[in-house]
Amino acid sequence: MKHIIKLHTSKGVVKAEANEGDNLLKLIQEHDNEFAAPCGGNGSCGKCQVEIKGQGHVTSCLHTVTKNIEVVLPKALEMKVLSAQYKHSKQVWTNPGASAFLADIPYGLAVDIGTTTMVFYVVNLMFGGVVDVITMANPQAKYGADVISRILASTEIKDGNKKLQKELITAVNKVVNEYCNTNSLPLNYFVKIAFVGNTTMLHNLMGEDVLTLAHAPFTPVFLDSKKIKAKEIGINIHEEGEVVLAPSLSAYIGGDILAGIASLDTTKLGKKYLFIDIGTNGEMALINDDRILSCATAAGPAFEGANISCGMSASTGAISKYSDKNVEVVGDVEATGICGSGLIDVVSTMIGNDVLQYDGNISSDFVIANAGTKNVIALNQADIREIQLAKSAVQSGIKRLLDISGITADELDHVLLAGGFGNYIDIKSAVKIGLLPDVDLDKYIQIGNSAGTGAVLALKSEGFVDEMNMLQKKMEYIELSTDEEFTMEFAMNMFF
Ligand code: FES
Repeated sequence: MKHIIKLHTSKGVVKAEANEGDNLLKLIQEHDNEFAAPCGGNGSCGKCQVEIKGQGHVTSCLHTVTKNIEVVLPKALEMKVLSAQYKHSKQVWTNPGASAFLADIPYGLAVDIGTTTMVFYVVNLMFGGVVDVITMANPQAKYGADVISRILASTEIKDGNKKLQKELITAVNKVVNEYCNTNSLPLNYFVKIAFVGNTTMLHNLMGEDVLTLAHAPFTPVFLDSKKIKAKEIGINIHEEGEVVLAPSLSAYIGGDILAGIASLDTTKLGKKYLFIDIGTNGEMALINDDRILSCATAAGPAFEGANISCGMSASTGAISKYSDKNVEVVGDVEATGICGSGLIDVVSTMIGNDVLQYDGNISSDFVIANAGTKNVIALNQADIREIQLAKSAVQSGIKRLLDISGITADELDHVLLAGGFGNYIDIKSAVKIGLLPDVDLDKYIQIGNSAGTGAVLALKSEGFVDEMNMLQKKMEYIELSTDEEFTMEFAMNMFF
C-alpha cells in the first residue's frame, strides 16, 4: 500500500511517496541530504526527532510509515566551525608543482575533511593567498556522528564505501562549482586539490574499504600520501588537475594530525611539547627532543554532544560556556542543548560545588538550564558516565605518552590544543575535570585548525608534502588497545 508523506524541509515542502512499513528516517534523508542521524539510525541517540502533525514528536529512525502523514523537520542549525590557525604556523614558498601551469590564473582548493565538518580553503596558486573559506557539515552525518558508525554503515548499506565516497566528492564538486559561478571563473581554473583528514575520511575519499579500520589489528588499506588525477575519483576541475592526499600514520593517526604537526613553526615551542586534537577520538603526539610518540584514544562522541541526553553539536542553541554566574549560548538564542565545551564547564562546576562525587556518582539529575526554556537541559547519571569514559581515555593516553617518553607533565614546555574543541574549551575547566594535564596554564596554546593550515600548505607547496612524508617516517605510534598499562590507567582515571 502506498502513502503520501508531506515533508517540511529546510528547503521547502516536498511530497514523497512511501510504501507501507518504510523507515521514516531513510525517507527523510532521500529528500533532505543534510538531515543527520548521529547514531547511524540505530535508535540510541534520540537526535533524529521530527514532528508528525497531529501526532507529536517521533524518533524518525524508529518510525515506520503506516499512513499518509505530514512531517515537520527541525530547523537546520548553523554550526560553529573553526577554520583558522592563528598561532605558530609555518610559512612556505608557493611552489604547487606542474599543475600550476595548467591555467592562466591557477586556483586550488585545500580541504580539511573532518568527521563532523568540512572546511574548504580556496587558494590563488599564483600568489599563494587564501581568497575564500567555505565550511559545511560533513554530509556523511546521515550515516552516523563518528567514524565507527560510518564504518558500520559502509557494511550495512549496499555499495556503502561508494556511497560514503560520493557524499564527499559531491560536496567538493558543489563547492568548486558554486565558487566558480559566484566569481565568474571557468571551472578549469581549478587545477589542484589537497586533502587532509583522518584515516577513515581519506579512505572514504578514495572509495576504499574501511572495515579493517574498525577491527584489530586495525590495518589501513593505505597510509602513504597520494597524488592522482582529480578525474580518477570523479572530481570535476581542470581535465589534468591533480589531487594530493596527506599521509597517515595508522588507522587512528591520520593525515589531519600529520598535516597539523608538520604545519607548526616550532622555533618558539621549546624541545618538549604535547599536541592534542580532541574530537570523537583523542589524537595526541608528544614531541620530546628528537623523538615523536603518538597515540589515539577512543574518546567517543560525548565531546561532540552525541550520546549525551541533552547534547548537541556546537551549533545555534548549544550552551558553549557555563559557570554559576554565566551561561553562553551559540547564536545568543534560547538554549536547546549543550555542546562539548559547555559539558566540560558544567562538570567542572559540579566538582566545585561538591554535587559530583569523585567516582562520578550524582544523587539526582543536574539541571543546567530551565528558566525560560521549553525543555529542561540536565545531565543524568548516564551522561556523567559517558563524560567519564571520554575524559579518562584522553587523560590516560596523555599519561602513557609521558610515561613512555620518560618525562613528567611539568617538564613540558608547551601543550598545544588543536581543532575546534580544543579551541573553544575553557582550559581551567578541562584541567579541573582531569581531561588535560595540570601544568602552568601559560603553557597552553590554543592553535586553531592546524589540520586546515596543513592542507593549505600541502596545496601550495610540494616541499611541504615531502615534510609530511618525512614526519610519517619519523613518528612512532603506540597502539593503546593492546597496552596493559593503558588499561590500568583508564580504570584509575575514571575518577574525578
Ligand atoms: S536515534 Fe535516530 S539517529 Fe539516533
